[in-house]
Amino acid sequence: MASEIFLALLITTFVVAASAGNFNQDFEITWGDGRAKILNSGELLTLSLDKTSGSGFRSRNEYLFGKIDMQLKLVPGNSAGTVTAYYLSSLGDTHDEIDFEFLGNLSGDPYILHTNVFTQGKGNREQQFYLWFDPTQDFHTYSILWNPQSIIFSVDGTPIREFKNLESKGVSFPKNQPMRIYSSLWNADDWATRGGLVKTDWSQAPFTASYRKFNAQACVWTSSSGSSCSSNNPSSNQAWLKQSLDSTGQARIQWVQKNYMIYNYCTDTKRFPQGLPPECTIA
Ligand SMILES: *[C@@H]1O[C@H](CO)[C@@H](O)[C@H](O)[C@H]1NC(C)=O
Repeated sequence: MASEIFLALLITTFVVAASAGNFNQDFEITWGDGRAKILNSGELLTLSLDKTSGSGFRSRNEYLFGKIDMQLKLVPGNSAGTVTAYYLSSLGDTHDEIDFEFLGNLSGDPYILHTNVFTQGKGNREQQFYLWFDPTQDFHTYSILWNPQSIIFSVDGTPIREFKNLESKGVSFPKNQPMRIYSSLWNADDWATRGGLVKTDWSQAPFTASYRKFNAQACVWTSSSGSSCSSNNPSSNQAWLKQSLDSTGQARIQWVQKNYMIYNYCTDTKRFPQGLPPECTIA
C-alpha cells in the first residue's frame, strides 16, 4: 500500500512545455456542434454563436503554473449580449479559476474586459476594464502569468491586474489544483451589456470570435497525484516561474488602472459592508 503511494508520487512528473501551439494538438472542441472550427491545419480556431447555441473548447493538458498567451479577435459589429470567456479552471466545489471575459456591445461602443480570480471555490474578485483599442479589428494577445508568487493578467504585454500570493497573510492562492484552459462564446444578454439592458440582435447571427498563436510555457500535469510544481520541476530556474512585476510593470498597471479600469471590487465598500476582502487592504 505505502509503496504504491510512493510509486504514484514518483511517476508524478511535470513536463515543462514551451509549445507554439497547434489547435489540433493542444485543444479539443467540447461543445457547440459545427459552431466551433479548427482551420488552417490547426493555426486558427473559431467559435460561433447562433440562436440555437454557442460553442467552446478546452486544452487537452492540465497545467500547474504557466505563462499562457493567446491571440483573440472578438465578435465584430453589434456584439451586444454576447460573452466570450477565456479562462483557466480546475473543477469541483473548491476550484480555482483565473478569468478573462469579454462582454460585447453595440457597434462602436466599448467592450468590457471582465476579470476574476477564484481560489478554493470563492470568487467575488471582479475587476473590469475598457481596452485602449478596438478588440474586434485585429488579433491581440491576452496572457496569464501564473506562478507561485502571483497571477498577472496582461494585454499585448501590458499588465492590467496582479493577484499576489498572500497566503502568509491568510488569503488562499491557487497552487495545487491543476487547471485547463477553457474558452466559450455564448449568449448572456440577461446581464452582459449595460447590465442586461441591451439584448442580442439575432439578425446579426452567427457571431464569431477567432483564436490563434497559442503559446504556453507551463508545467503540464501528467498524473492525478498531488504534488507541487516548483519543487518537482527540474527547470524551476525558468524565468517565468520567478517573474514578478518590475517597476515598469508597476507603472503600467497603474496607468491602466487609472485610465481604463471601470470596476474594482477592492473599492466597492457598499458591496462589502463587513469590510473589504483582506487582499485589498494588505499593503
Ligand atoms: C457598452 O457601451 C455603453 C455606452 O458607452 C457603456 O456604458 C458600457 O459600459 C459598454 N459595455 C458593456 C459591456 O456594456
